[in-house]
Amino acid sequence: MPGQIPKTFIDDLLTRTDIVEIIDGFVPLRKTGSNHKGLCPFHDEKTPSFTVSQEKQFYHCFGCGANGSAITFLMEYRHMDFVTAVEEMARRAGLEVPREGSAGPARDQKLTELYELQELVVQFYRKQLKQHPEAERAVNYLKQRGITGELAAKFELGYAPPGWDHLIKALGLSDAAQKRLLKAGLIIQRDQGGYYDRFRDRIMFPIRDQRGRVIGFGGRVLDDGTPKYLNSPETPIFHKGRELYGFYQARHAGKNLQRLYVVEGYMDVLALVQHEVSNVAATLGTAATADHLESIFRVTPEIVFCFDGDEAGRKAAWRALDISLPLLRDGRRVFFLFMPEGKDPDDFVREHGKVGFEDLKKYVPLTDYLLRELTRDFDPGIREHKSKLIHEATPYLRKMPQGSLKQLLQDEIAGLTSLDKSIFDQQLMETKPKPQSYPVKVSRLQRKTERTLLAQVIRLLLIKPKIALTIPDFDDLANINLPGTDFLKDLIQLIQATPDITLARILETWRGTKYEKRLSELAPIAESPYEKDEVDIHSEEFLAIEFSDAIASLREWSRKERIKKKTSKVSSLDELTEEHKTELRNLNPKARIPPEN
Ligand code: GTP
Ligand code: MN
Repeated sequence: MPGQIPKTFIDDLLTRTDIVEIIDGFVPLRKTGSNHKGLCPFHDEKTPSFTVSQEKQFYHCFGCGANGSAITFLMEYRHMDFVTAVEEMARRAGLEVPREGSAGPARDQKLTELYELQELVVQFYRKQLKQHPEAERAVNYLKQRGITGELAAKFELGYAPPGWDHLIKALGLSDAAQKRLLKAGLIIQRDQGGYYDRFRDRIMFPIRDQRGRVIGFGGRVLDDGTPKYLNSPETPIFHKGRELYGFYQARHAGKNLQRLYVVEGYMDVLALVQHEVSNVAATLGTAATADHLESIFRVTPEIVFCFDGDEAGRKAAWRALDISLPLLRDGRRVFFLFMPEGKDPDDFVREHGKVGFEDLKKYVPLTDYLLRELTRDFDPGIREHKSKLIHEATPYLRKMPQGSLKQLLQDEIAGLTSLDKSIFDQQLMETKPKPQSYPVKVSRLQRKTERTLLAQVIRLLLIKPKIALTIPDFDDLANINLPGTDFLKDLIQLIQATPDITLARILETWRGTKYEKRLSELAPIAESPYEKDEVDIHSEEFLAIEFSDAIASLREWSRKERIKKKTSKVSSLDELTEEHKTELRNLNPKARIPPEN
């Protein structure tokens, strides 16, 4: 297989191409001020909040939060993987993509091996479904569940035959091969030595990640044995809280997803796709997480949760509501389609078909669901009920980002309780109850503000990397003991080595490293929505002043921390050694420290 693409080439590619030109080919952009703007292609909107900065070579949507470099744009918009996106950009720039002679770092190599192995395993199980003498039972089972051969092929369903070592015999012939199967969670180590197949006599569902790589499997029994499903364990490439079964297929089923249905089960996905509802994905036996929802909102503005009509399904729905609230920026929508008691989406679509399932009238908007639950037994004639409603609604409202949806909900609750809107507004704005006076909590709270300061420094650097050069010496910042200090140090070093670096190039330099995630969280904020402001907040002078202020505060804080540490070791100042006293005086000339004897 080809070697890695050298980082230096990517850096070079980004300096030679123009993000505005690339994006403008897909999304019409208009120049406004120093940026270009257009309607965001990643969510539905009527007024443009999708901003592309030529200077930073970076795009960002204030509506849905999508952001990244030109490479990211091609990956997200054109559903390309990283390498294809780089190749596409190189083609436009008339460049040849070079490959490193040696293979990449050892870890990447190991992961690649795991992905390749999983691909072989998919083929192995598929072959068994066609050929194994016992496979007829599996085929009959699928038929009886209404799954056609075509659908089984589309989802690459397979069969793990009964027996302890089919997979080992086929794909675990060497010691090294067995180690890989073990690492992929496909075989299990015996106490007395040796291995056995994890999946036996089960229908196999390969799970692909968003880039299309097989990362794990689910396996269903053919009867009502237990456990009904076995999943691959968490492995270096499989994380249940992040992946959704069927999401890859859904993204590739049509052009743009209008919405995505989120269901609980593998079989629900298959049944819906069989009935031509192809925009569906399932959580993998876990509750929906914010990670799940963020990756869905990257490709569609609307989620419809559709869980089973039982106690567990209703619990999952309420949890999904709770997880969704903080993500409900304007432009995003969440609905619930509640199943009749005892039915799941699989049953429902078989009974009512695509038309019944896509009956928009049945979709309960998240805010309706929330209000319905909060106003159970609510009597508007009873003052106590109104106050209870306000009390109970407040934490939910606080979780929502500012926007029209929150405002509408808030107004409606104010209306129900005949509470003056502005009073309610004020009440919501009031700071949350102070944490108890447990020292641990307080110190954690303080740390948070220092962390915010650190994040602010990093953000300023991302807006205008050059300002790092305005401060000659950062050495003392190394002693600051906060999460993120390493990030800051490395960022400053990178900028000092490449003073004309742009945000996009920083992003690509650190793609795939431990900084990637934090960077994409901090980067969007580097784009400012205050275009219309009088002050040019992007001017280098203005940013440099803010930067040096923030650095000074960090230094001040770090100095205080050192004093605190020094004094906390001794119970009285008299116990200080002379050396300590001198040091403390230097740190804080105003401190009253007993004079030297
Ligand atoms: P059918 O009963 O065949 O219709 O399956 P289903 O896909 O509808 O599954 P169900 O609604 O019973 O469960 C939802 C999801 O929870 C499944 O798709 C699995 O991901 C997970 N799950 C269900 N049962 C088990 C189990 O016994 N073990 C594990 N690990 N996961 C399970
Ligand atoms: Mn089911």
